[in-house]
Amino acid sequence: MSMGCCESKCAGDITSEQWALVDEIIAKYKGQRGILIPCLHEIQEVVGYLPLEVQERVAAGLDVPLADVYSVVTFYALFSTKPKGKHQVGVCLGTACYVRGGDKVLEKVEQALGIKAGDTTDDRLFSIQVMRCIGACGLGPVMTVDDDIYARIKPDRVAEVLAKYS
Ligand code: FES
Repeated sequence: MSMGCCESKCAGDITSEQWALVDEIIAKYKGQRGILIPCLHEIQEVVGYLPLEVQERVAAGLDVPLADVYSVVTFYALFSTKPKGKHQVGVCLGTACYVRGGDKVLEKVEQALGIKAGDTTDDRLFSIQVMRCIGACGLGPVMTVDDDIYARIKPDRVAEVLAKYS
């Protein structure tokens, strides 16, 4: 069966090279059992996220119901249906960070960027993700931007930190 229908109509910002890699990954996993998560993970590495047209391609390619693909993608925090921003802002809400005000830090980040956790700003500069303990509990509350870690971050320093990234 041809799966080329998406190429021009709904490929969005996914390049034809990326679609080719997606098809290769699907072909590699096709016919095996219990491979939906690793397959989606590999595809996300290539595309950056898993929009509906990619989920449809996976469902058709692996011959599994779209609903199964969709429920895996939306269940696991590892997967994203939206493109990631240039900078990944993480706020730890693990217990140690939470009790030291991690939730207030997250609130401030959401306010400053005008988006909720899990979302990406319209200019694709920032995405926010909630983290569960990154092993720096003594430094909590912890916020990260890409590979930079901000320890004992106070909500009123959030704007100043974000301003460093463009
Ligand atoms: S709870 Fe935040 S680093 Fe451990």
